[in-house]
Amino acid sequence: MDGQTTMNVPGEGCYYILWDMPNALLRYQCCTIHLHHFHSFSKPTFVYQAPIMIFPFTLLLSISTALASPHYARGSIEGWAPAGPNDFRGPCPMMNTLANHGFLPHDGKGLTKEVVVKGLKDGLNFNETLGGIMFDQAIIANPEPNATFFTLDNLNRHNVLEHDASMSRSDAFFGNNHIFNQTIFDTTKVYWTDETLSAEMLANGKLFRQIESRSTNPEYTFTATTEAFSLGEVAAPIIVFGEIEGGTVNRSFVEYFFQNERLPAELGWVKKSSPVTIDQIIRTSQLVENATILITGSEAAAHSASRRDLHGGKW
Ligand code: HEM
Ligand SMILES: [Mg+2]
Repeated sequence: MDGQTTMNVPGEGCYYILWDMPNALLRYQCCTIHLHHFHSFSKPTFVYQAPIMIFPFTLLLSISTALASPHYARGSIEGWAPAGPNDFRGPCPMMNTLANHGFLPHDGKGLTKEVVVKGLKDGLNFNETLGGIMFDQAIIANPEPNATFFTLDNLNRHNVLEHDASMSRSDAFFGNNHIFNQTIFDTTKVYWTDETLSAEMLANGKLFRQIESRSTNPEYTFTATTEAFSLGEVAAPIIVFGEIEGGTVNRSFVEYFFQNERLPAELGWVKKSSPVTIDQIIRTSQLVENATILITGSEAAAHSASRRDLHGGKW
């Protein structure tokens, strides 16, 4: 991570900025895009180092060209197909969902900045600034130096972006850290006690997963940067499927999304009519963070403020 520009953005993994690019494919082919990699959760305690393997150069080149070449599928709400045997998927239910709908390449490969920004814009109406930030935060998932794209299975690398105590995935210590796990999701859902989820119910599920993980996983890791990432993930369903101002979301939308990796249009969900902004993500993550405080009464506010100071570098 040395030498990278750090931009502190809250929550992250799920804070994404978009940036609309007409004729992006043409531009991609004609210019070199220089990317700064910045991300708020970019100081993992352990970074996976890919084993060094020797490939014939031409093979490596053709693999990397095939994975990088941007292909803009025309996504749609109606068009949905699960991953086939050669498609890449990862630990993010939304990135998988967008690939299933074709808003991202269905094969889960070649996720350049243009592709990600356009996918988040078309599928979820995230604004361009947000989509661009999200891409910049995610590019470290590709272990190649100076990478300009990532693939969905790059996101599986443990303690890079993927982390312990996920709401719907197992910890890497226990097995598969990226496929949807109904048993684990059921334990999170215990805390979703109403048809309308509040930030507090979502926070309770998150806290439970951390306690469960810390008490059973001898390799449990959850740094301050993981926390920022995690708060963003927990806030994400409110942002995409819920009432951002009120901080609530229809439980059935969220369950359907996690369990099917599909946008809950058949349940009545429609994407936001106004573009989603980074400010909305910051506010919603703050709401979730406040809801994780276990102290009651007026002292809770003071505790919240002091935690913000501690995380001063985060935002
Ligand atoms: C560039 C865009 C994105 C990237 C690179 C990304 C990446 C990731 C990664 C690596 C994880 C795994 C963290 C873990 O171990 O739990 C994750 C989880 C998650 N992401 Fe995303 N994400 C993106 C956008 C979104 C969006 C737009 C949403 C909106 C709903 C979203 C919702 C979630 C949720 C709810 C989780 C938590 C899953 C769980 O705890 O089981 N993500 N994301
Ligand atoms: Mg995880």
